[in-house]
Parts: sequence; structure tokens; C-alpha cells
Amino acid sequence: MSFFIFHRLCLNMNLVKIKADNSKIYARAVVFGLKKEMALLDIYTFPDPILRQQAAAVTVFDQELDETAQSMLETMYVSSGIGLAAIQAGILKKIIVIDLNSGEEEISHREPHVFINPKIVKKSGNTVSEEGCLSVIEFRAEVERAEKITVEFQDVTGNAQKMDAEDMMAICLQHEIDHLNGILFIDHLPLLKQKMVKKRLTKLAKAEA
Ligand code: CO
Repeated sequence: MSFFIFHRLCLNMNLVKIKADNSKIYARAVVFGLKKEMALLDIYTFPDPILRQQAAAVTVFDQELDETAQSMLETMYVSSGIGLAAIQAGILKKIIVIDLNSGEEEISHREPHVFINPKIVKKSGNTVSEEGCLSVIEFRAEVERAEKITVEFQDVTGNAQKMDAEDMMAICLQHEIDHLNGILFIDHLPLLKQKMVKKRLTKLAKAEA
């Protein structure tokens, strides 16, 4: 999910958007005290078919998984996103990262979350908010989601966890978990609008290729 939605909803919080800069040196400097430099990942964008794949459950909780999660966080920060699913980087595994404080310049104010094999086990209420996505360039739209959810997941070491989420965290989790099932936020738009938007985005992608 792109930074825009969070920025819009939290205008009073005086957030400063991170300058998008794909240099690894910059990434290492901004991410919360990483011991070693992590590679930035390339993000696939609509209409790339990889975004329609199903992610597989993570079964091995090793150093590589931890490094993948760290690279995802780093890539998300550099791209000014608040959430990223592994599938967006072409990794077909059930890994998502979220930081609603991604826009904080002060690294100690950040709150990185890693969810492995996340599953929504409870939903309630409805809420509509404007969403964007690092895989859907230059387009945002209002999407209806459940207002509150309960998510079961594992942490990077494989321990079972449970989280009750509402507001932005609930919206972001639903958006990212959708990615793991090959679903994009634009798939939730009314059919006619959806067709128009997809046509336009496909045309745009072709022009840029
Ligand atoms: Co997204």
C-alpha cells in the first residue's frame, strides 16, 4: 500500500515523506540500525501476471526468511510505502511487512511489523478509505473493507501470534493479505470503473515499457 493513504488520513501528525531514492547507501542509512546492508527489491507493477499468483505458505523459518523480511521493509521505506507483500517483489511466499509510521524521518519512531502466513479469522464492520499500491502506479481509489479484523500469523521465528486490528492497520492488513491471493485493490472497484481503470493502466504500462 502506498504512503499516500496514511499521509492523507494523518495530516495533523506532521509527517515527512521519505525522499524516494533507490541508492542502497540511503536505504541503509534510513532503516532502523540494520547490521548489514540488505538488497533492495524490484517491485512488480500492474498488469504483470506475477501479481496474480498465489503465495505459498512459509514452512522454513531461517536466516534467509529474516533477510527477506528485512529487504522488504527496506524496499518499502525507500518506496514510501506503508505495506508490502512478498509477491510484489516476485517472491511467492506468504510474507507481508507493514509500518504505519513509515513516513517518520526519525527511525526510532518507526514501527515495523512482519507477518508470516497471515490469515484473517474474524471481521466486523465496514469502512471506506482511499487506497494506493506500490504495484499500481499513479492511481488511488476508495475501497470498502472490514473495519475491525483479527489476524493469526507467525513471526519470523515461527511463533504463532494473533492481532486485533482496526482503522489503518486493519485496512492495510486486508490490502496486503489480498496480494498473497493475487488480488489487487482495483479488483474491489465497481465493475465498470474497474474495466476502465485496468485498460488505462495497461495502456500506461505499455507506453512506459
Ligand atoms: Co498493494
